[in-house]
Amino acid sequence: MRSIIDITDLSVTEITKLIEASLQILHDPQAYQNNAAGKILATLFYEPSTRTRLSFESAMYGIGGQVISVAAASNSSAVKGETISDTLQVVSNYADIVAIRHPNDGAALVAAQAASVPVINAGDGSHLHPTQTLADLLTIYRHFGRLSGLTIVCVGDLLYGRTVHSLLHALARYENNRFVLVSPDELRLPADLRNSLNQAGILVEETASLAQAIVHADVIYMTRVQQERFADKAEYERLKDSFRLDPKMMKNAPETAIVLHPLPRVNEIAKGLDQDPRAKYFEQTLNGKLIRTALIDFLLADAANDPQPNPRPELLDAVCLTNARAGADAPESLQSCVNKRCVSHIEREIEIWAKQPGNICVYCDGLLR
Ligand code: NCD
Repeated sequence: MRSIIDITDLSVTEITKLIEASLQILHDPQAYQNNAAGKILATLFYEPSTRTRLSFESAMYGIGGQVISVAAASNSSAVKGETISDTLQVVSNYADIVAIRHPNDGAALVAAQAASVPVINAGDGSHLHPTQTLADLLTIYRHFGRLSGLTIVCVGDLLYGRTVHSLLHALARYENNRFVLVSPDELRLPADLRNSLNQAGILVEETASLAQAIVHADVIYMTRVQQERFADKAEYERLKDSFRLDPKMMKNAPETAIVLHPLPRVNEIAKGLDQDPRAKYFEQTLNGKLIRTALIDFLLADAANDPQPNPRPELLDAVCLTNARAGADAPESLQSCVNKRCVSHIEREIEIWAKQPGNICVYCDGLLR
């Protein structure tokens, strides 16, 4: 049984298979219409969503399954203080597969560790969003017929934008991709991700000029400045309109480029751009449904063949710094995660695990100190 927390939980070959399955689903949905008959998807959304939740649910109905849903944290026992871990043990009794979105970085890993059914990360704080990446990859593939040899320009809130983090994890595995990052200084890509790309020898440029960056772009990946992640609202106001793509600016971009955005957009893409054939962000939402259908189908089949949870790769080389299972009343760790949004700060009696080398938090990739 597999869970998908990071896009790298899927091999490149598996991603190719999901893309192929998505295209089959597009052309012949009837061939899949009973694949999930008798199965239930639980969508646990503790953070707002339109596309992600509805596309998961539409995907499940489209293959003959059924859906139960918590559409807001305020409707769930989370407000009574229930831990993610307890909730997932419960929901595993009601559903065959779970998609979870949560405001805390690392929450999906906690969920997967507690569940006895496959868990899909539908966005954990500002950390990761692997199924948006699948939608992005399918859109890129449908346009270019490949996922390698591309110049990808990522624009906007690269610090908190989980879709960009997952997209970079994904595209870094394909040959000859080049990344150009366009953000305000305050919203640069997290240093750990930048370092890991550099260490892998991947070409990453940073610039503050959108007009220049798009001149040689294949993919222009726009993102929203994420109001909800800012502690300081004045800073959000100052940065929110840093970059805007409009028809005039798009004159700088190649005719063959495509514009993606995970949506929702605020001001960063002018509505006037919607008529430009290079604008693919609405097609991207359809692709999100197609590839989530393929993913649910794949994970249900995998769980039927192999019902035991696979060990999480994050934990393989990690060291446990707490001692909850050894009989202590409350786990004690002399170290904690420097990332304030990390799930380790809200989930009671959580074990603290450090990836080595570097003493990195397994949940959110923050530093443990
Ligand atoms: C994104 C998200 O939730 O991270 N939206 C989505 O899932 N399509 C991007 C965003 O909210 O800005």
